[in-house]
Amino acid sequence: MAYRNIMVVGDYNDMSAVAAKIIIDIILEKPDCVLGLPTGKTPAGMYGCLTQLLNDGKVDLSRVCTYNLDEYVGLGPDDKESFHYYMNSMLFSRTAFSAANTHIPNGLAADPEAECGKYEDKLKRSGKIDLLVVGIGINGHIGFNEPGSDFKSRVRVVELAETTRKINARYFKSLEQVPRRAITMGLQNIMEAKRVLLIAGGNEKAPALARAFNGPVSEQVPASVLQRHDDLTVIADRKAAGDLSG
Ligand code: PGA
Repeated sequence: MAYRNIMVVGDYNDMSAVAAKIIIDIILEKPDCVLGLPTGKTPAGMYGCLTQLLNDGKVDLSRVCTYNLDEYVGLGPDDKESFHYYMNSMLFSRTAFSAANTHIPNGLAADPEAECGKYEDKLKRSGKIDLLVVGIGINGHIGFNEPGSDFKSRVRVVELAETTRKINARYFKSLEQVPRRAITMGLQNIMEAKRVLLIAGGNEKAPALARAFNGPVSEQVPASVLQRHDDLTVIADRKAAGDLSG
């Protein structure tokens, strides 16, 4: 993949600041933009920087619409391990986003399959996502699209890979408590975003990043589909970029 799409920055804090700046620039340029947002360890610093920029600049967020990538099946906004809780504590409760405009799949839906259809409909009604931010799993997943996911996949219920459950167990009391299923945007939803920003920090992400962007496009490495996106930016800190070649 063209190396020009990959921005290598010094460390995690630089990655966070650069990503936050890209997000705020889109909001300032298009006050009714649609954002796709991730959760996890990687974007935590980005949300910190973004919160500060938004509040310092008194940025109008009343018309910004957000869609999260995924949520665990079985967890709701009051569960500390849910992505809903994460978004509220990291960003939404600290900034002026309108609750009516922020969307996260409902992990507590009685019928998760029906919830996927509803989420897909909402996404369609919003029009194209202007900027979608994703992290990358050590197994190359984006959102919860685990290895083997169809490039044409849309919002759906997925089984989490054991590697993913084990890594995410750090947020739960035990591995047993980590949900086995999640609702995620599919790879096709991600590819339909006008612009995609992938952020990665730390040594542990280096092999996945290299497989995604130096290797062949393969359903075994879901992030590799992004090589086919025509407006992709990767922001990697030096450690995460350590295995990439030019
Ligand atoms: P992390 O997750 O930011 O917690 O490493 C990234 C991902 O799995 O997409």
